[in-house]
Amino acid sequence: MLRSLFFSPRIRRVAVPSSPLGPTLAMDNNNRSRTTDSSVQTNPRIQKLQQIVKTDASAGWEESWKQGVTPWDLGCPTPVILHLHHSGSLPMGRVLVPGCGTGYDVVAMACPGRYVVGLDISEEAIKKAKQMSSSLPNADDFTFIKADFFSWRPTDLFDLIFDYTFFCAILPEMRSAWAQQIQNFLKPDGELVTLMFPL
Ligand SMILES: C[S@@+](CC[C@H](N)C(=O)[O-])C[C@H]1O[C@@H](n2cnc3c(N)ncnc32)[C@H](O)[C@@H]1O
Repeated sequence: MLRSLFFSPRIRRVAVPSSPLGPTLAMDNNNRSRTTDSSVQTNPRIQKLQQIVKTDASAGWEESWKQGVTPWDLGCPTPVILHLHHSGSLPMGRVLVPGCGTGYDVVAMACPGRYVVGLDISEEAIKKAKQMSSSLPNADDFTFIKADFFSWRPTDLFDLIFDYTFFCAILPEMRSAWAQQIQNFLKPDGELVTLMFPL
C-alpha cells in the first residue's frame, strides 16, 4: 500500500486492467533491467529493450530512446488523464510529471493556470518532447527538463504529481527514495496521482 510509506499526501489511485508494457518492467540506477513477471519474456518489444540494456547497461534508458525501443509509449496522452482534465478534476497550479518520456501527458494537462513540468533522465526523450510540442498553442504552460528524479531539486513545490509508468519502472528497492522525493516535491496539500500496472 502506498499509504503505508512514511508520508501521506492526498493519493488518488487509478487501476487499469492492462498496459502497453503488460507486466511491470523495472530498471535500476545502473540501468539494469528487471522484470517482475515471466510473461514479459514472451513480449518481443520487451525482449528488444532488454537486449539494448544488456549491450549498454550504463545508458539503458537513453539508448532505448535513441533506438526508438519504447514499448511503453502510447503515442498519445493517457486516456484517464484526458478524462480527469476535461472533467475539471485535476488541481490547478504547478504539476510535475516524473519520467515523462515524450510528454503527451504534460502537454495534455497544461493550460492557463496549470503549469506542467515534464522531467526525464533521457536527453533524447526530452529532445523529442520539445520537438513535438514547442509550437503548440499552450507551449507557455509547460516545460521539459532533463534531470534525474532522485537528485533533482525543484525551485518551487508542486500542487500535483502525475506518475504514469515511472514508479513501476524503477526497482522495488528504489520505492522508498521515490516516496521521499514525492514528499519533498509536493506542497503540504498537494496531490499525487499514480497510474501503474498491477503490481
Ligand atoms: C516506462 S517509461 C514511461 C514514460 C512515460 N511516462 C510514458 O508513459 O510514455 C519510464 C521513463 O522514465 C525515465 N526515467 C527512468 N529513470 C529516471 C530517473 N531516475 N529520473 C527521471 N526519469 C527517469 C525513462 O527515461 C523513461 O522515459
